[in-house]
Amino acid sequence: MNVVLGVCGSIAAYRAADLARNLMRSGFTVRVCLTDAAQKFVTPALFEVLTGNPCLIDTFDEPEMGRMAHIDWARQADIIVIAPATANTINKIATGIGDDMLTTIVLATTSPIVIAPAMNPQMYVNDATQAALRKLEAHAAIIVEPQEGDVACGEHGQGKLASNQEILNAVMTLAATRKSLIGKHVVITSGPTQEAIDDVRYLSNHSSGKMGVALARAAQLMGARVTVVSGPVKVQYPLNAQVVRVQSALEMLDATLAAGADADIVIGAAAVADYRPAIRTAGKVRRSDASLSLELVPNPDIIATVAKTYPGASVVGFAAEPSSELDVAREKLERKNLAAIASNDVSQPGIGFDSDQNELVLVTRAGQTLESGRLSKLGCALWLLDQVVRL
Ligand SMILES: Cc1cc2nc3c(=O)[nH]c(=O)nc-3n(C[C@H](O)[C@H](O)[C@H](O)COP(=O)(O)O)c2cc1C
Repeated sequence: MNVVLGVCGSIAAYRAADLARNLMRSGFTVRVCLTDAAQKFVTPALFEVLTGNPCLIDTFDEPEMGRMAHIDWARQADIIVIAPATANTINKIATGIGDDMLTTIVLATTSPIVIAPAMNPQMYVNDATQAALRKLEAHAAIIVEPQEGDVACGEHGQGKLASNQEILNAVMTLAATRKSLIGKHVVITSGPTQEAIDDVRYLSNHSSGKMGVALARAAQLMGARVTVVSGPVKVQYPLNAQVVRVQSALEMLDATLAAGADADIVIGAAAVADYRPAIRTAGKVRRSDASLSLELVPNPDIIATVAKTYPGASVVGFAAEPSSELDVAREKLERKNLAAIASNDVSQPGIGFDSDQNELVLVTRAGQTLESGRLSKLGCALWLLDQVVRL
């Protein structure tokens, strides 16, 4: 597999030399493209000796006579990795500028891109940089977020290049799972539901939809057609996914059954309210000194209904549990007749609701218990879909 490693003008550029070696040790053919600013920190000779391949720098470089290198490299790359990625290059890529060899290759490629930013913490939180990163994510780039710590300029904050192991993990997961869902339709439920009490109030939960976004991006990276049935969330789903917006569990059930008719895989990542108010009051429930009881009635079990209606689909549930015990997950797997269930312990700090990381334990119908380890939500999603493909 071919990797184009783009190196930008960051103080962390020296770390790309080790990354190139690590990628080669993992079986990738590595070709390096340096920006002009990167050459202030590292030399083409370093990477040419390490990789055995010529580096590209100038847009008009042409190692093979008569061939446009930016198109050749863009076509031949299975994965493009930009590490370290500067604020400048990130912003250029997000707006479609191609004014050097690296950004021109990125413009010309259809391959997945892994971006590992490294910069001063203020440059990282800068509105333009954040908007560019989120835009690139929405277009299915994988961002290996920088670490928090002391950076070279003496400040403390988020901006240190992620570890080579983290960058390598992102590339490896992508390489292992790429394109195994071509021609498949993946339906994902995501986010919370809102169960109306009256016209202005509702019952809901803390689900952010981030896991649903990660699953949608992972499924797309693996070549699937993706439909997301989403409760109300602020997160942005990938632009090529079909998104059906719903509010209540009843609406989510209808939309998921409609989308699931030709689905190969259905993943229930939504945090569906178990109960809804028996009566929705028109207008507003008025304040009084008397106590107020709300009668709740059970909502239908969406994922169990989908599994029963479409037995040919691989239906996978999520169990957000307040402990690492798997008994509840196993019971749900059996009762709902699922292919597998992904359990995550939401009592652990740093994973689960609204966080950017997760740690899944997948219990399969065949009785296997598989662990993802702690990964970004996208890493978890790629891992999960890879396991589902193998079921
Ligand atoms: C010593 C030094 C270190 C720098 N480190 C970074 C960095 O880590 N991240 C970053 O975004 N910019 C950094 N810059 C600024 C970039 O080099 C500058 O924006 C440049 O135009 C980036 O070009 P490129 O994106 O084409 O590589 C640094 C500049 C200097 C002088």
